[in-house]
Amino acid sequence: MCGIIGFSGSENNAKDAILTGLKNLEYRGYDSAGIAISKDGYMKLFKSKGKISKLEESLENIDTKSNTGIGHTRWATHGIPNETNAHPHKVGNVTLVHNGIIENYQTLKEFLVKQGVKFNTQTDSEVACAYINYMYEKEENKDEKARFNSIINACKEFRGSYAFGIIFDDEQDTIYATRKDSPLIIGVGENNNFIASDVSAILDFTNKYILLEEGEFAKITNKGYEIYDTELNPVSKKIEVATWNANKYKKNGYDHFMLKEIHEQPKVISDIFKRYFEDNSLGINVDFTKFEKIHIVACGSAMHAGLVGKYLFENYGDIDVTVELASEYRYKNMRINDKTLTILISQSGETADTLAALRIAKEKGATTLSIVNAVGSTIARESDINIYTYAGPEIAVATTKGYTSQVAILALLCLNTMKQKNILDKEFQNKIYNDFNNIEEMLNNVISKEEEYKNIANKIYTHNDIFFIGRGIDYALCMEGSLKLKEISYIHSEAYAAGELKHGTISLIEDGTPVISIATTDYIMEKTISNIKETKARGAYSIFITTSKENSDDFSDITLTLPKTTAFTEPLFVVTSLQLIAYETAKLRGCDIDKPKNLAKSVTVE
Ligand code: G6P
Repeated sequence: MCGIIGFSGSENNAKDAILTGLKNLEYRGYDSAGIAISKDGYMKLFKSKGKISKLEESLENIDTKSNTGIGHTRWATHGIPNETNAHPHKVGNVTLVHNGIIENYQTLKEFLVKQGVKFNTQTDSEVACAYINYMYEKEENKDEKARFNSIINACKEFRGSYAFGIIFDDEQDTIYATRKDSPLIIGVGENNNFIASDVSAILDFTNKYILLEEGEFAKITNKGYEIYDTELNPVSKKIEVATWNANKYKKNGYDHFMLKEIHEQPKVISDIFKRYFEDNSLGINVDFTKFEKIHIVACGSAMHAGLVGKYLFENYGDIDVTVELASEYRYKNMRINDKTLTILISQSGETADTLAALRIAKEKGATTLSIVNAVGSTIARESDINIYTYAGPEIAVATTKGYTSQVAILALLCLNTMKQKNILDKEFQNKIYNDFNNIEEMLNNVISKEEEYKNIANKIYTHNDIFFIGRGIDYALCMEGSLKLKEISYIHSEAYAAGELKHGTISLIEDGTPVISIATTDYIMEKTISNIKETKARGAYSIFITTSKENSDDFSDITLTLPKTTAFTEPLFVVTSLQLIAYETAKLRGCDIDKPKNLAKSVTVE
């Protein structure tokens, strides 16, 4: 989390370039922000608590003409979000922005305090800054080699994760950079160059970039860039070209990025089916019959997508699947061997726990397959096999198209497995093929039920507790619907397996408590309906979301009917409707929909 950017140009526009980039990185954290620019031979730091717009306002009447600077948007880990703890930090000769966590900062801090260093903040990042400065002070010649050496030697002592942008007082037109377990790219422009947490930060200026690998140390100026290994041998790197343009990062007329991204889903999903379904191999060459079990590992909504995948693989693909949160998987003693397929799901491709889980699975001999949106991200690069969702940039912190595109890929993977095992019968395949062909229209239809979502939102937005219930795949969808609602509307909500509610939680149902039930699965429809009736009998306000035409008058106050297809596409309809209910509810409550409090989109710390 946290977004960092550095810019070196020649038109005195460093501040504007940095602020533009930071706005595109704001999804990575937004509790405070700051910039440092080189001005009249000094490094000048400006910081503010809150979003980047606050920082921008505070700079309005200040002369900030400068060619070089670094900036940061923060998601606090060490130290409360205030102006003091905001980055950049400056100690001695070194000004620095940091994304990640220096886990041994306390030990390093104690050491530095003994050397007489005084600290102003509660952050681990200031310690990193001070430590690099300490290393630099020890260097005899204060030249470029010394600057690189001080960073390289300091990094040898740092445990944890980092992406750094560093400016030395002695060389203020130059930005030094390195990374470990946190992403960092170098943007290559004309007479201006960048470092940034991701490519979104630079697209207003250039679409050319270089992926900096761990163990590489870079410097940029407005004239160019240089990259070295730990021995200071030059490293030559490929220049990548981003296919996304800056427009993809604008709201394009929508009130919120979340709404825009919900509306993009029909096209994104239809493109996935077109791209991958025609090609039975999904663009990968894997024999799925050789695996005895599948582990699906992810965090947040991506884990919820995994639960849909589990249902599909177990019910149709004839293979056992365990779904694990990456933060648990990495510290568990899972039985993993060369007959294990570990599927890592991650929109950003940078989530720290998912990346760690990938490395562990690889080490233990599993075949690793990632489903990732962000092209070129670490998880995509490090896994044995990667399938991109190509959903395009997702800016709203609450994922929408990120999640549904993961579900679509899992559905295709399951079909692929069925084909390889000769258990996909022709008629079923044709039915699914037909659904895939019509998916764009069907999803657009689901989205067009705006009045129904507004009506549901009107009924629930004043409540403090909401329950989602469902069985089987519908329970997995409840979990995503509940998460969506609570993360953006701040209403407490829980997802329950419909049959489990009576084992305790039903005691929380009071007169008028909203219960949103999901029922798409025919063979357990009656069971779910019985559970709904149990809540209704205790006063629940019942909202029934279904693909069945069943008469629901006696157990539901509102019924939302969605297209009836198969489990390979119905989850997409259900979740899209749940996203829109959450969206309309959050809107009625006046919440900051795209940037919910305390959250960040890319979680690069444990
Ligand atoms: C954060 C986001 C979630 C996302 C999760 C995993 O918590 O807010 O929307 O599902 O991280 O992120 P990933 O990029 O790995 O899918």
